[in-house]
Amino acid sequence: MNTPIETTTGYQSETANQFEAELTWAGKQPLMPGRQYRINLACREILATVTAIKYRIDVLTGAHLAARTLNINETGKVNLYTSEPLIFNRQSNKSDLKFVLTDGQTGEKVGAGTIDFVLRRATNIQWQNLAIDKNARSVQKQQAPKCIWFTGLSGSGKSTIANLLEKHLHQESKHTYLLDGDNIRHGLCRDLGFTEADRVENIRRVSEVARLMVDAGLIVLVSFISPFRSERRMARELFTVGEFVEIFIDTSLSECERRDVKGLYAKARSGKLKNFTGIDSPYEPPVSPEIHIQTTSLSPQAAVEKILKQL
Ligand code: ADX
Repeated sequence: MNTPIETTTGYQSETANQFEAELTWAGKQPLMPGRQYRINLACREILATVTAIKYRIDVLTGAHLAARTLNINETGKVNLYTSEPLIFNRQSNKSDLKFVLTDGQTGEKVGAGTIDFVLRRATNIQWQNLAIDKNARSVQKQQAPKCIWFTGLSGSGKSTIANLLEKHLHQESKHTYLLDGDNIRHGLCRDLGFTEADRVENIRRVSEVARLMVDAGLIVLVSFISPFRSERRMARELFTVGEFVEIFIDTSLSECERRDVKGLYAKARSGKLKNFTGIDSPYEPPVSPEIHIQTTSLSPQAAVEKILKQL
């Protein structure tokens, strides 16, 4: 694995949100690059993501090994991104550079490490303030921008309902866009498969796209299985309160399998399709979605009416 070493940026104190760090994993589940964890560092608790694993360190030989993840008790060099900038000083006390990572949902400790240095990219890229902002764009469109996030099993009816909802909104002269998992996987996410790590990255990308579209003043409908609570929460955190509406399209596995519109459940059951959601890859249902649709008791039309009333 290529391990580019980024040089340090000097000895003065600086504010940055990207670092190289040495991390020892302690979680029962392997480290998931792209997933948000809580980080405790210099008496602060914020969010952190491992954006890349540079290499794993062989404890016996010290050799640098290529790695896509870290398992329990494994150590590696990683790039870390924190949700808020931290003040970093190369002459800081070693203890100020030590951190602990915990799981955002369970609070369980999943790793510990030390910051090595600030990544150059963190100090060379600044946020550009633009004259026309979200408010100006939404006033022009005469609407409150939103991210309407549909989650549910494959074949649960997400796309059917999202499609119909977009038609209604369009007829009401709203400016909308529908991001659909199957379609986005033909372009922006065509390099991703269905492992847990690839799904985490899939959702990270689509939530960033949705954020840009909301910033453009649009009502964005996102229709992705999005099977993991942590990534749905990560998506939610990109938006202001009330902007993100999670809709759980609740159709049981047995019903999705009975419908099997795309024939994928049959393939998954026969072992021809691996990592299929609900079969050999997990789906974590939302605990408190804004809107809960049970498709066995509501037609797509009735579901859309219910959504429109609650929006
Ligand atoms: S997600 O899990 O990463 O959110 P996404 O919504 O983009 O998934 O894509 C799901 C669609 O891909 C399904 O509707 C289905 O048509 C197709 N698909 C192909 N392989 C799989 C698989 N292993 N698991 C789930 N869906 C799959």
